Amino acid sequence: MSDYVRLVEMSARDGLQNESAPINTADKIELINRLSETGLPSIEATAFVSPKWVPQMADATEVLTGIRRKPGVDYPVLTPNLQGYQRAIEAGAREVAVFTAASEGFSLKNTNASIAQTLERFAPIMEAARADNVKVRGYVSTVLGCPIQGEVAVSEVVRVATAMHELGCYEISLGDTIGVGTPAKARAMLRAVAQQVPVERLALHFHDTYGQALANILVCLEEGARVIDASAAGTGGCPYAKGATGNVATEDVIYFLHGQGLRTGVDLDALTDVGHWLSERLGRASQSRAGRALYVK
Ligand code: HMG
Ligand code: MG
Repeated sequence: MSDYVRLVEMSARDGLQNESAPINTADKIELINRLSETGLPSIEATAFVSPKWVPQMADATEVLTGIRRKPGVDYPVLTPNLQGYQRAIEAGAREVAVFTAASEGFSLKNTNASIAQTLERFAPIMEAARADNVKVRGYVSTVLGCPIQGEVAVSEVVRVATAMHELGCYEISLGDTIGVGTPAKARAMLRAVAQQVPVERLALHFHDTYGQALANILVCLEEGARVIDASAAGTGGCPYAKGATGNVATEDVIYFLHGQGLRTGVDLDALTDVGHWLSERLGRASQSRAGRALYVK
């Protein structure tokens, strides 16, 4: 099994989308530029969603056109529909991400559409992306629990993840949107999905609301997963998942992975500095335990 784990950095999108106070476009650009110097291979930059739904992402075009792109780094952006895809391409996106859920209630709340309707919306995006030679990542939310319906059947996660894979997503990111999962459930879910979608095509997107994310990541690494979404300083949350906190902190994930003898290519000290800088900008303490322990200056 490979000893390399690919990190997909979430702080500029998942990390900031839920902030109620406006954040300067220049600060968002600086965040991404700073992250680009840490060795991260993939940095989700922004979301071309409806600005009425998520005002914090209204400056998606300015952000994506304003960043300094480091060669070798991917800068995916969220695109919920063809309109978002077209805006993203005009702004120079080379990778996009579509998103749906394993529970109907969350799909409706997050995208004003049933799961089936979201999959229908993706078809023209996939077609355009193939013609444009643009990579498409797919997210499935609520894979370990839903803020509206509670339990989510593993069979639904498998069904939706398989549908997205069949549509042509090169990678499916499995979202524990509200961070309620525990290791045995996470392992069972990943095992079941991996029977239909090769495990190399699966990513772990775990929010850390209940402090379970690293434990869940550990068991999924044992199952062969090698892609992890994480957010510097543990920033973030979903506007349509009340009470949910940020993604697992990137600093904690790197400390953990390097301690396990796995490689990420990311400089933990450099990333810690960015997490600290971001926390200062947001006026709050970092949610990363490793980030706080390492930042003694
Ligand atoms: P809708 O209101 O049903 O859309 O929203 P519509 O097609 O009826 O259009 C309504 C208006 O929105 C129109 O404007 C459109 O032009 C505009 P009007 O004519 O009223 O002036 N519009 C857009 N404008 C800009 N860009 C667009 C766009 N689309 C429509 N792309 C829609 C449907 C999907 C657009 C909306 O529900 C939406 O934007 N949802 C996104 C919500 C979101 O961003 N959630 C957070 C990200 S997902 C997440 O955090 C989970 C994840 O991290 C994984 C996990 O943790 O589980 C990925
Ligand atoms: Mg998320």
